[in-house]
Amino acid sequence: MNPRTESSLVTVPKQCYINGGWRDSTGGKLFEVADPSTGAPVVSVADTSTPDWSDALDAAATSFPDWRESSLQERSRFLRALFNRVTEKSDELARVMSIESGKPLGESMAEINYGASFLEWYSELLISQRGEVSDNPTGDYQMQVTRQPVGPCLLITPWNFPLAMLTRKLGAALAAGCTAVIKPAALTPLTCAWLVNQIHELGLPPGVVNYLPTTDARGLSSEIMADPRLRKISFTGSTSVGSVLLKQAAENVQASSMELGGNAPFVIARDADVDKAVTGVMIAKFRNAGQACVAANRVLVPIDMRDEFVEKLVEKVNALKVDAWDIDGADMGPLVDASQVRTVESVVTGALNEGGQVRAGGRRMDRDGYFFEPTVIVDAPIGGETWSREIFGPVAAVYSYRPEDDVAALANQTEYGLVSYLYGRDQKQLAAVADAMESGMVAINRPIISEARAPFGGVKASGLGREGGTVGLEDYQVVKYVALQY
Ligand code: SIN
Repeated sequence: MNPRTESSLVTVPKQCYINGGWRDSTGGKLFEVADPSTGAPVVSVADTSTPDWSDALDAAATSFPDWRESSLQERSRFLRALFNRVTEKSDELARVMSIESGKPLGESMAEINYGASFLEWYSELLISQRGEVSDNPTGDYQMQVTRQPVGPCLLITPWNFPLAMLTRKLGAALAAGCTAVIKPAALTPLTCAWLVNQIHELGLPPGVVNYLPTTDARGLSSEIMADPRLRKISFTGSTSVGSVLLKQAAENVQASSMELGGNAPFVIARDADVDKAVTGVMIAKFRNAGQACVAANRVLVPIDMRDEFVEKLVEKVNALKVDAWDIDGADMGPLVDASQVRTVESVVTGALNEGGQVRAGGRRMDRDGYFFEPTVIVDAPIGGETWSREIFGPVAAVYSYRPEDDVAALANQTEYGLVSYLYGRDQKQLAAVADAMESGMVAINRPIISEARAPFGGVKASGLGREGGTVGLEDYQVVKYVALQY
């Protein structure tokens, strides 16, 4: 292992964290975490199983009554202290994140700023939240509406943004007064372990946060969700897994937040500035090597702008520097693992079989690790492979539309509805298209929409619930109505 990697992982616990203590998994089972830029294992971590899972849920359930009674000030100060820690130690955390996810250091730093902003936001929001008090219509009694924490939560986080997707859930859960059992993605548990260790050092009461790395995601969720003491599941990941979890949640009527797949259209209007649109696609598509549910999946460009747009896009794509996380100037890292490379490869092959043409990239790179060339495909058919599948890789699929086409209706031809990107000048037209988009979020003349103060989430197969914004806190609360007659 390269010495830089080894020294960067010294501060990361390799055990699981239950009821305020780090411990080995039952039976001492371990699994390996690899560096996607070499494919080589870098460290082994605890592979938890059934006794660990039940101990963690016991801890979350037992600590809940005290944590829900903690003052708003205590919770707010804790989140602020955690925000400060993450910010102060961002260099250390960035290396940990890059090693396990493959992100170039600059991308890890951007994610850390974004991830930390949820801790800051929830620490502020929780002390400003208000309830409602009013008289009933005939004046006999008072109506009080307050919010209480929903209870112990299971937080299942993905590998593509291992910090931000965690803080977006955990910040809200802790602010609301909930306790948590966290299951990180098996590909990227180290960022989560690092954060949980900061939580431990800052002295959060035992049991409030528990961390369970495992290779048996299905076993863990089935067991923990079968226990009625669990009151909420929050999941970020694929629509197919989300749908299984929703069925499991139905058994005990557990509250559910689901951030699922996306298939974002990137619509370029006829009056758009081509250069700005190209710059936008470069970010909306190639951020995190395209491994984002908000990644632009289908670029819709007016037919008379197409040639100029594709030529400029190809030039920028060919200029991207693809390399390992610790190489200066790397714009894009590898994909997360071999299976992700195969998935992207199969999407590209499918598009080519359907008549698509590769204008840039198109292949896995001939080197160690899971590198895939940044790719541009044109002329793939609407409704085909790159149109209907969430690509989750660095492949920009460009489609053209004619002046008589209803571009919003075209963009809506997908089961998903997370985010849509619109580029253009005519504000009235942009507003009309934004209104017609079947997506939970619309970004106009911007390639990035995510922001801690705004509600993130989708419609249709993209999920249920919102994270971030004020509603992100409310998603961890239940409304209580008290009718009070003196
Ligand atoms: C995602 O795409 O998985 C989330 C990215 C974000 O919050 O920006």
